[in-house]
Amino acid sequence: MKHILSLLTLIAVLTVPLYADDAEKTSLFTTPVFLQIPSETSIGAVWGVNGPAAGFVEYSTNEDLSDAKRVYACVPPLRSIQEKVLSVRIRGLEPNTKYYYRAATMPVDYPNAYHVKVGKPEFSAVHSFTTMGEKAQSSFAVINDTHSEYDTVKAVHKKLKALQPPVVIWNGDAADQYKSEEKTINSILNLTGRAMAENYAFLFVPGNHDYRGAWVRNLDTVLLTRNPEERDSKYWALGRNFAVRQGDIALIGLDTGESKSDDNPDLQGLAEFESYRELQTQWLKETLERPEIKSAPFIVAFCHIPMIIPRDGAEPGQFVWSRATSYQWGQLFSQHGVQVVITAHKHRYRCDEPTEDRPWTHFVGGGKSPKTATVFHGTVEDGKLIIRVYRIEDDSIIKEVKFEKRKLLAPSF
Ligand SMILES: [Fe+2]
Repeated sequence: MKHILSLLTLIAVLTVPLYADDAEKTSLFTTPVFLQIPSETSIGAVWGVNGPAAGFVEYSTNEDLSDAKRVYACVPPLRSIQEKVLSVRIRGLEPNTKYYYRAATMPVDYPNAYHVKVGKPEFSAVHSFTTMGEKAQSSFAVINDTHSEYDTVKAVHKKLKALQPPVVIWNGDAADQYKSEEKTINSILNLTGRAMAENYAFLFVPGNHDYRGAWVRNLDTVLLTRNPEERDSKYWALGRNFAVRQGDIALIGLDTGESKSDDNPDLQGLAEFESYRELQTQWLKETLERPEIKSAPFIVAFCHIPMIIPRDGAEPGQFVWSRATSYQWGQLFSQHGVQVVITAHKHRYRCDEPTEDRPWTHFVGGGKSPKTATVFHGTVEDGKLIIRVYRIEDDSIIKEVKFEKRKLLAPSF
């Protein structure tokens, strides 16, 4: 019996990988770190791993990471072990504060039911981010309809790198479809092989294509949903909506969902977008009354599918995706002094100036090909919100619009 136990121990030792050696040969990171779901007090970090692996993020307000806190990739009560992608949700941050951070990946082996083996961590380089908040820099950028096109992502990324916005809205159709975990990691986290979001975070707004593909129902492992504590439990299903202050600007994200109606034969009865959009109407109504949103000098809303079809004098309510819901969203924007709505989907830039009945400016971003792609940049300069639309092909400004502070404001304004 004693000999059998010794033999089993020897076999176990020989079959355990030599992590330290392996780590030197192949990186445990398969992608750069991708920051997302930022808020005033939290942020998410996601990266690809050559697993099985566990991991964590260390962060500090000190550049040398002294006094760093550590947060593990974790779905309580278990810290995560994943084959391909790890995600960390950092909470309890101070608003408008610069943090330095690095991610760590640790190889893991789970040889039997009684113990787990964890190897030495491999660390990313140290990067930084600044949390959102009313006192944060009043600035944002928008990209959309990248559709996993390498040249387009590379070009818009180059522009983002030049603009260095504190936060970027990815306004839908990041990919054509999501076929597998591996393809999704490549097309979202690592399409250009360069870091997209190590030093600023993405607010993701889904497009119709972001609901397509055999693997799409797992997308929230790569593109995280918002932290649940940000919304009332009756809105538990609205994991993609956001309403966050970035300096003087309130940024509101809505999800128009599929462009096809729930009864479209292509969807085979496997989608429920109509009730999902109706729930967002209720959420939007309450959100626009929240003190930090209501008091914002500027409000900009984002959704993927345009709110307006520019024909037959159509105005809010004349939509392909949901006439009733979009009419209600449009009415709420008007009643609450939303100044700008930035949409996407058409792959061709357009600006619909405000009208007497529709006081908000409606933009449609270009996209998919580098020839039609745009990057929007919003900043507050001399007390006015300025939105510049850049044509990526020649880096020219194709539109610049200035917005005065909102009139529907609290007395302090
Ligand atoms: Fe689209």
